[in-house]
Amino acid sequence: MATAAADEVQRAADALRQGRLVVFPTETVYGLGAHALDAEAVRRIFAAKGRPADNPLIIHVTDAAAAKRLTRHWPEAADRLAEAFWPGPLTLVLPKAEHVPDVTTGGLDSVAVRVPAHPLARRLLEAAGVPVAAPSANRSGRPSPTRVQDARADLGDQVAVYLDGGPTQVGLESTVVDLRGERPAILRPGGVARAAIEAVVGPLGAGDPARSPGTRYRHYAPRTPVRMVAPEGLAAAVEDALHQGPVAVIASDENAPPPGEGLHVEVIGRRDDVDAWAHGLFALLRDLDDGTYGAILVETPSDHGVGEALLDRLRRAADGP
Ligand code: TXA
Ligand code: MG
Repeated sequence: MATAAADEVQRAADALRQGRLVVFPTETVYGLGAHALDAEAVRRIFAAKGRPADNPLIIHVTDAAAAKRLTRHWPEAADRLAEAFWPGPLTLVLPKAEHVPDVTTGGLDSVAVRVPAHPLARRLLEAAGVPVAAPSANRSGRPSPTRVQDARADLGDQVAVYLDGGPTQVGLESTVVDLRGERPAILRPGGVARAAIEAVVGPLGAGDPARSPGTRYRHYAPRTPVRMVAPEGLAAAVEDALHQGPVAVIASDENAPPPGEGLHVEVIGRRDDVDAWAHGLFALLRDLDDGTYGAILVETPSDHGVGEALLDRLRRAADGP
């Protein structure tokens, strides 16, 4: 982890300052970075991903003070959440400062900011000395990359530098929290669990989906159809799906069916180990999406902790192309 040579980081930082694109690891997923205050550079992100122009980007910075400078209002809850979870998988949405280009925020008057924890991301941000806008480094609609090769498969030579930090630790994107309302509200569940946020700022408000453009789009979907199946229904669902051809299953230690003719089984972890599920899920969805299987069945994960985010991503993946 974080073994990239100093000159690689320097090369990536130079590319960012020159308005080019860099793929880098964060503790959640790999990001596709560009100079956040350079509108031309940010446009390259939207083009490379095929991302709708009204889906705003998260700006990555080295610390809370740098985040604050991108906003025009910084409530006390922002201080408390930053203190508790930064650096880490939490994104805060606040009224945007004038100098943040509209293209970066998808035309919104708000800005999303995050201080990532991954040592390579931190070295890159420090060397670049500019705020870095970075969505997940996948083609729009595909599962987020948790390994550098996944980003490369989606984005190829549109990127000036790929920094390899090995597989990401969390495996799911950051939790996006809107701090503009009366109470903080989750716009996208992610790597910091709801209960952990409530422990810091008290009861949360209802997230208004209209305020989170990203949630309007289909996401996280491999090409192979994905279905979530309750643990007790797995055996029957597998049998049923096998009539249509080979089947892959992602299931817990406790509920994984035995492998069989036409059936590939991936055991992802204990049912209550939602962190292990988050860590492995996107990579498995990509690996199993090589055309071998007619369907990917996934045991419905537990909803505790980051399980809320797992359920959210799998529901979107299962929506179908
Ligand atoms: O963990 C992560 O958050 C990763 C790493 C690279 O940091 N990034 C990531 O970015 O997942 P992206 O672009 O794939 O997802 C950003 C989400 C989208 O749902 C977007 O709509 C939402 O954050 N978002 C960004 N700015 C926003 C804003 N101003 N208001 C509301 N939602 C916003
Ligand atoms: Mg994304």
